[in-house]
Amino acid sequence: MLQNDRLLKTLRGELVDRPPVWMMRQAGRFLPSYQRLREKYDFFTRCQTPELVAEITCLPVDELNVDAAILFSDILVVLQAMGVPIEMREGSGPVLLRPVEKPADVNRLEYPDVIHALGYVFQGIRATLQKLDGRVPLIGFAGAPWTLLCYLVEGKGSPNFEKARAFCYQHPDAAHALLDKLTNITISYLQLQIQAGVHAVQVFDSWAGLLGPEGFRQFAEPYLQRISKALSALSPVILFPKGAWFGLHALATSGAAAIGIDWQTDPAFARNAVGTQISLQGNLDPAILLTNCTTIEAQTRAMIRRFGTQRYIANLGHGILPHTPVAHARTFVETVRRFSEAELLSTKS
Ligand code: CP3
Repeated sequence: MLQNDRLLKTLRGELVDRPPVWMMRQAGRFLPSYQRLREKYDFFTRCQTPELVAEITCLPVDELNVDAAILFSDILVVLQAMGVPIEMREGSGPVLLRPVEKPADVNRLEYPDVIHALGYVFQGIRATLQKLDGRVPLIGFAGAPWTLLCYLVEGKGSPNFEKARAFCYQHPDAAHALLDKLTNITISYLQLQIQAGVHAVQVFDSWAGLLGPEGFRQFAEPYLQRISKALSALSPVILFPKGAWFGLHALATSGAAAIGIDWQTDPAFARNAVGTQISLQGNLDPAILLTNCTTIEAQTRAMIRRFGTQRYIANLGHGILPHTPVAHARTFVETVRRFSEAELLSTKS
């Protein structure tokens, strides 16, 4: 039994006393308690050790009072399981040692035995659930096929992922074959996370907006639809198509329980695009958490007033930034926790 089921109620469209709140990338990055573990173990050791996964996942629940935990892992572990060696470099992020450069490289990627290759993730989920002891729900996650293709082709992070976009337009058949393979693997992977006990799953399509409306329709949306339709009977699905405001309407009928939006998307526009039968999640600019408590409180309250308190999950518009002071993150969470329905009504009149 869960002691705090605001997130799950919101995902089911049930009434809540106030919006649930959590922060994307809350489980790593900014907490000093995480930074200490970071000095002791390298990144993939942290991901592969169930006790560390459980410990890191629970840090923001213990320290910030958020309404949900997100599993500590990474979207790139799926690519490792497909036989792609990855190094996580200090300062510059992930480097894939054998990126996909030409269509023939797509065939080289292994179709992994997900249950074994990513067994440590499922063990991590079980260890985390024990440690959470029903305090809050646990969110599992995976990268969307297009966002995984970005890293596979580019070989590293990039502001615009030009190589990945060019690959799709120059080799559409190979791109679709790759996206199809990534979709099947992602569905199995998330099904197994759900079997291991996660209460909801989020699909991160962090670079969806880079494709533009037509590219999104071809190379991202169909795969998000397939993942969402395959899983929505098993667990609530949250889709986060960052930057793809033009794709929100189409995703509203994907079976997803919620769609996450970034801070460049207007809440009223998003609500209008998706209708009333789905929850929205987002969308405070993470840079606002670098300012001061007064500004954070004012901006957070303004955000809630724009979204309303029902069918809404308070969150940031992208991951929390590494140098965010803990007190600022706490102010964000506390402001949502204090927001009451009566207050919403009084500010409307
Ligand atoms: O939300 C959480 O805190 C849970 C854990 C989580 C991580 N990565 C841990 C991590 C989640 C949900 C992710 C998702 C992820 N990983 C995304 C999608 C979300 C987004 O931010 O757009 C992407 C694109 C990646 C790929 C990735 N992993 C990059 C580009 C980097 C380097 C730069 C960065 O964002 O920190 C990583 C490394 C990574 N993944 C770290 C953490 C805590 C930092 C490495 C470290 O702490 O040593």
